[in-house]
Amino acid sequence: MDTGKQLTLPLMMSVGTAVMGSLQFGYNTGVINAPQTVIETFINDTWRDRYQEEITPGSLTGIWSIAVSIFSVGGIFGSFSVGLFVNRFGRRNSMLMANVLSFIAAALMGFSKLASSWEMLIAGRFVVGLYSGLSTGFVPMYVGEVSPTSLRGALGTLHQLGIVVGILIAQVFGLEVIMGNAELWPLLLAFIFVPALIQCILLPLCPESPRFLLINKNEENRAKNVLKKLRGTTDVSADMQEMKEESRQMMREKKVTIPELFRSPLYRQPLLVAVILQLSQQLSGINAVFYYSTKIFKDAGVEQPVYATIGAGVVNTAFTVVSLFVVERAGRRSLHMLGLLGMAGSAILMTIALALLDQVKWMSYLSIVAIFAFVAFFEIGPGPIPWFIVAELFSQGPRPAAIAVAGFCNWTANFIVGMGFQYVAELCKAYVFVIFIVLLLGFFVFTYFKVPETKGRTFDDIAAGFRQTSAGGEKHSPEELNSLGADSQL
Ligand code: GLC
Repeated sequence: MDTGKQLTLPLMMSVGTAVMGSLQFGYNTGVINAPQTVIETFINDTWRDRYQEEITPGSLTGIWSIAVSIFSVGGIFGSFSVGLFVNRFGRRNSMLMANVLSFIAAALMGFSKLASSWEMLIAGRFVVGLYSGLSTGFVPMYVGEVSPTSLRGALGTLHQLGIVVGILIAQVFGLEVIMGNAELWPLLLAFIFVPALIQCILLPLCPESPRFLLINKNEENRAKNVLKKLRGTTDVSADMQEMKEESRQMMREKKVTIPELFRSPLYRQPLLVAVILQLSQQLSGINAVFYYSTKIFKDAGVEQPVYATIGAGVVNTAFTVVSLFVVERAGRRSLHMLGLLGMAGSAILMTIALALLDQVKWMSYLSIVAIFAFVAFFEIGPGPIPWFIVAELFSQGPRPAAIAVAGFCNWTANFIVGMGFQYVAELCKAYVFVIFIVLLLGFFVFTYFKVPETKGRTFDDIAAGFRQTSAGGEKHSPEELNSLGADSQL
């Protein structure tokens, strides 16, 4: 297939604009790491002004932990609410509207110092978490729906690329000489208004998802016009045909709400795959690195831990680009397995390095290599793939509900690792990564047995594959299968 022909300017512009939302998510993930001490000083000063006494270390840690982790709580709520927006307002307009949250968050965090209020900082982190949760649903859905089948994986990976570039920008901006200092940290946190503004200017120029127009709105002509623009050709009959087939299937499906998604045996298998893949992404331990790498490197005896953290950000970005180029060739399943196995190997190296640190000095270098390899393998598969594969595993009917459930699981696991890692690390010391090794191997086995390859297959074909598995594995009455649109497959 000539993919060069399919990568048109309008398609690149639409996907590029959408992933500004991913960039904001990544930025807020990475931004809180470096300026911890200066913001803690601000909290301390504010406390002293208000109560005429020093803050206790316990209260300070408490306020700081809340400020860090409330972001994921916002993400949990945001991701779960995706379904409320996408069918009512459309995919593009939902992304546009969500930016209101970004501006509110930027104002809350940007003026928190001026207003001497760490409460505003916490509120801002929550609001930007809401935005990020919505984005992790909106962006992969929109990108999946505007992309041609042969480019869906590569363009889907751009969501992750947006995230990792966001993390890297935040790490660099967070350096003391740039914005990670006592004067400029409010600006560092408020910086998100820039990508938000760019997205607000460009989104109205991007088309609505043609699948939404045809399948949800029944606007055939508009869908056709959008497709012509996106594909750069007047002959879009193959795409239209495929979407109509999906639409016909959907007519037979009842409207799929979240409870129905759980009840219907036909969605059990893809839902299980979607949820476990999200868990494999977060419980791989990646955010133990992205939230706490500076501390991990410091404990491992690395002399310039902040720069090692930025190094991890660079490796992270580089390998996401690698994945982008190989995902349509190697396929999702094999890359995900390779990534999980490589991460497990790197975590073993890391454990050896930490365990022998006292006896062997150069182990601190091994720890850097191990963390870089851990991050690199993550981006080969477990980073990008879970985000876009959910849109692939479900047809238009159940897609929004499935994306909401998957996002909810992802963010909840993110929250658990973010909150729990420091405590568990205290308890297990050098052996903390052993937990992730066990989990990674478990996810590897699951992927081997349960995850189908989705590369190069239409949405409809993937859904049909699951319907067949489900029909083969379980007993349904003919009426039940019929009402769920499986009749043509039997
Ligand atoms: C994925 C994860 C996110 C993580 C990032 C690291 O997007 O969802 O939590 O911080 O990868 O690159």
